[in-house]
Amino acid sequence: MNPSATQSIIDTLSSVGVVAVIEVSSVDRAVALAQTLAKVGGPCLEITLRSAAAVDAIRAIVDAVPNAVVGAGTVMNPQDLDRVTEAGAQFAISPGATPALYAAASKDHCPWIPGVATASELMVGHAHGYALFKFFPAQAAGGMDLLKAWSGPFPTARFIPTGGVNETNASQYRALANVVAVGGSWMVPKAAIEDRDWAQIEALARASLQLTTQP
Ligand code: 3PG
Repeated sequence: MNPSATQSIIDTLSSVGVVAVIEVSSVDRAVALAQTLAKVGGPCLEITLRSAAAVDAIRAIVDAVPNAVVGAGTVMNPQDLDRVTEAGAQFAISPGATPALYAAASKDHCPWIPGVATASELMVGHAHGYALFKFFPAQAAGGMDLLKAWSGPFPTARFIPTGGVNETNASQYRALANVVAVGGSWMVPKAAIEDRDWAQIEALARASLQLTTQP
């Protein structure tokens, strides 16, 4: 992996502060959604590989919405990493990590963000040279108390807490010194995407950016 590319995506994620976890059923919905989010300056998009349209959606967003920050989520194995890199994803995120993913990600791929939920998983990530992790599932795994506790033994680790993060706790998560950005689906409800309710998503996206803006 190219460390400078990684630092640049960390900087981008950090300046936007929020990652929308998205499941799209069609490419045209994905492009319209990306246009909506780009219009308000974020959030970054994590297009999860949970639908057949996901990889084509990433490719179409890269082509049609150049100012969107678009990555892939639910990346489970090296093949997923290959196909999202080829589609032009700016980053890839996994809910956990495997030895195969650590091996593949050290080669020529888009920057990859492994998932962790325990100190041991974090130590494995550090041993591979990683400093940025998805903390998943954040609320269920220990929430803000765990992130605060990790800042002692792991002062260089940085996190994107996701899973149970929403409009009621996002700003508190974002205020933690070891949090780069928060992730979640609360600003991109599946029903609104299905109904093409871009006005609702625009309003939720604007609100999420205000919640997560650092003073
Ligand atoms: C994810 O894949 O990161 C989670 O499903 C998102 O969690 P949330 O729906 O609780 O935000």
